[in-house]
Amino acid sequence: MPNDALGTGLILGIESSCDETAAAVVRRGTETLSSVVASQIELHSQFGGVVPELASREHLRNIVPVVRAAIAEAGVSLAELDAVAVTQGPGLAGALLVGITYAKALALGLGKPLIGINHLEGHIHAVLMEHGEALGQGDAPLLALVVSGGHTHLYLARRSGAPESVAWMYRNVGRTVDDAAGEAFDKVAKLLGLGYPGGPWIDRLAPFGDPAAVPFTFSPVKRRGAQARDAPEFLFSFSGIKTAVLRYTQTHGMSEVIERRRPTTHPLRPDPDVVRACVEDGTLDRTTLDLVASFQRAVVGSLLKQTFAAAEVFGARAILVSGGVAANSELRRRFLAEAARCSLPIAFPSFALSTDNAAMIAAAAWPRLLAGELAPEELSATPQLRLG
Ligand code: KG4
Ligand code: ZN
Repeated sequence: MPNDALGTGLILGIESSCDETAAAVVRRGTETLSSVVASQIELHSQFGGVVPELASREHLRNIVPVVRAAIAEAGVSLAELDAVAVTQGPGLAGALLVGITYAKALALGLGKPLIGINHLEGHIHAVLMEHGEALGQGDAPLLALVVSGGHTHLYLARRSGAPESVAWMYRNVGRTVDDAAGEAFDKVAKLLGLGYPGGPWIDRLAPFGDPAAVPFTFSPVKRRGAQARDAPEFLFSFSGIKTAVLRYTQTHGMSEVIERRRPTTHPLRPDPDVVRACVEDGTLDRTTLDLVASFQRAVVGSLLKQTFAAAEVFGARAILVSGGVAANSELRRRFLAEAARCSLPIAFPSFALSTDNAAMIAAAAWPRLLAGELAPEELSATPQLRLG
């Protein structure tokens, strides 16, 4: 679509790849007029993880009211939209299908273009939409760490050419070979009898423990054969540390204290007052707190080491970090300090845009709309969709 054919610059974004049904209206990829997120955390927390069938059912229940709320909060009419954007993948097939089917029908009914967006590209745009200018311009690529419950990936991101209407291009230069970092936070929290999702719990508890108490180590993950001779790739592995935590709980006789605090005595959110009370009354004992602090120190250390090594190898002009784990306090503190040491600009999304939302989907769609990259009629859910 040529630039001058665009009227309002308004895009309605729809996201339903996992356990959040979200809709947002964003103008020209940067100005968020509304961002509505219906979280299913409460539903899934009783199972200690996302149950795909329940997620699809909830998306079906939520999609209409969430989109209506996003349009109403933005104070616009559907007729004013320039396009509808929707997450195509990666994610849960049934969950993705709800958003895609709805977005397709809406776009068709309104006679508006539809744009399919990769969820991971969305996470990158959560940062670009807020801090694009601070990350500067130039030929050197940006390095993006996308770190969430389902992903731990490093991407080089660049625009080929000056005009605003050129879409972003990505190259995958790092990945986990097993668990995602957020998955490790969730699994470790679960095996320590803490609430779901585990990341926020571990984040709040870590300052009460000694991060040097348990010396976790990561051995370098090696690529084999011909692959290893190709371009450099930065690999992560987080399943070993999860097993090491489990073994530690077994060798230190922690099962009783874990089982005692496991049940539903926890509130759904790791509220700081509740955390402090649990530390004071011993529900959260010293061994657990030290273990949690040491675990977080090690995981953040691994993410930091690989990210800054990749930034150096690829001559990145700046780093951006996105995805649920980008909300982690220790991660932000240590990444900021290291970036300052290396004189590299770095940016994180606001906390609301760190976890899944639809503003990032609408933002990612803007350059694609300008470049005329519309979804084909047969757009369908792509659970294993790759980026770069
Ligand atoms: O991006 P997101 O909402 O969904 C996925 O695409 O996966 O990320 C959710 C993940 C969960 O694993 C959650 O435990 C983690 O992000 N997370 C955190 C924090 N807040 C959320 N991990 C560490 N520290 C946090 N403060
Ligand atoms: Zn996500």
